[in-house]
Amino acid sequence: MAAAPQPVYWLGNDTLRVSAALFAENRQRLCKGLKAKDGVVPKSVVVLQGGEQEQRYCTDTDLLFRQESFFHWAFGVTEPDCYGAIDVDSGKSILFVPKLPESYATWMGEIFPKEHFKEKYAVDEVQYTCDIVDVLSNLRPAVLLTLRGQNTDSGSICREASFEGISRFQVNNTLLHPVIVECRLIKTDMELEVLRYTNRISSEAHKMVMKHVKAGQKEYEMESLFQHYCYTKGGMRHTSYTCICGTGHNSSVIFYGHAGAPNDKTAMDGDMCLFDMGGEYYCYTSDITCSFPANGKFTPDQKAMYEAVLRSSRAVMAAIQPGVKWTDMHRLADRVHLEELVKIGILNGSVEDMMKVHLGSIFMPHGLGHLLGIDVHDVGGYPEGVERINEPGLQNLLMGRLVQERMVLTVEPGIYFINHLLDQALASPTQSCFINNQVLARFRGFGGVRIEENIAVTADGIELLTCVPRTVEEIEAFMADSAKTFSPVLSSEKL
Ligand code: GLY
Ligand code: MN
Ligand code: MN
Repeated sequence: MAAAPQPVYWLGNDTLRVSAALFAENRQRLCKGLKAKDGVVPKSVVVLQGGEQEQRYCTDTDLLFRQESFFHWAFGVTEPDCYGAIDVDSGKSILFVPKLPESYATWMGEIFPKEHFKEKYAVDEVQYTCDIVDVLSNLRPAVLLTLRGQNTDSGSICREASFEGISRFQVNNTLLHPVIVECRLIKTDMELEVLRYTNRISSEAHKMVMKHVKAGQKEYEMESLFQHYCYTKGGMRHTSYTCICGTGHNSSVIFYGHAGAPNDKTAMDGDMCLFDMGGEYYCYTSDITCSFPANGKFTPDQKAMYEAVLRSSRAVMAAIQPGVKWTDMHRLADRVHLEELVKIGILNGSVEDMMKVHLGSIFMPHGLGHLLGIDVHDVGGYPEGVERINEPGLQNLLMGRLVQERMVLTVEPGIYFINHLLDQALASPTQSCFINNQVLARFRGFGGVRIEENIAVTADGIELLTCVPRTVEEIEAFMADSAKTFSPVLSSEKL
């Protein structure tokens, strides 16, 4: 007999269909990993708590809900206030949904029966959260495995499942986290399909923005265009992080776009733009940066700096394969940047000696790249036993381990002219001896260049997921073409 068709998540039009089988496979992999883990006993039951609907401060205004990432990985459920249980021995899945009050039907819409969620998410059973103690008791679990562990990017501890009555059970909160994190690290074929989609839509959105950029526009106009494209064409209600739309000197501000610097400068003729934006579909992310001149034509200095970063991006991508150390990839990017800065005349001396005093971190203070998945800085960068290297630059690398097949990573080298770091280097005799301050002075206020690609690691190299114009020639041709297509001045001249 043919297997019953799996339900799909789909937002209509040309958006991606994602089968609930993606999450069934994730749960299966989790059970397999747990069975192989020392200390996991028979009759263990995983209990995960989904994200909760929150309000804006003390008001009754709902914040737009986004599912908690571990819960999403295991169940693909879009609603808030749920729990999920997985019987490790059998793989049986139970979804717990809130029993909603009648008033919900007045204000929020139809109250669906449990059967609705069973079909929607293809889980084995659906129960109400208010019955969780009885339902779990009926499984006679030896132990409940709850999720507690540190996110190695933020340092925060993830929130462990808890409910009234949990104290009646034996609970272990240490076994699950390392296993589920290792599962999330390695992407399945179905997950790769979604990440290809988020990259395709976000790449197209970046291209659309590039076609519209003109001196005189506000950075937030570009942010809004990106979001509009991602949502209309891709069904992406969320972006993966706050959009970074820096122009001119703002392009050197690594996390520009936050509330204190909210993409509100006007792009000027001669500015570089650094636009770091990624759309998110069904909680799967993307993280793409394009750097280009606002007026579509690189100056010689802009070209030199852009090509320096492009060379490091290409060198790193050519070197990535399973087994290489990510820390070595970071060092490779630093080395290429220093070589290029020597050619440009900002630095002089031995690149080897510059590496010894970590001069690369003055120009690229962040890490080369990070894991990508349901979180934009995805989990698993530093498992137990992998230590962070405590050196300038490398200490900010979000992943310290060997590259493995089916990891999805960003490759995002950049060169920035950040005054306070430049001044710090000039004040340090071991670093200032390499710097030609006269040439450097020309680049104060230049901003920065970052080129960020998303890649999937294959058996012998990489699959490039991002697809945007990248060489100087490609960018100039693309933007020149767009001037003809989009500029109101040019089109009215034609009339
Ligand atoms: N957009 C944040 C990052 O590149 O990591
Ligand atoms: Mn980014
Ligand atoms: Mn990134």
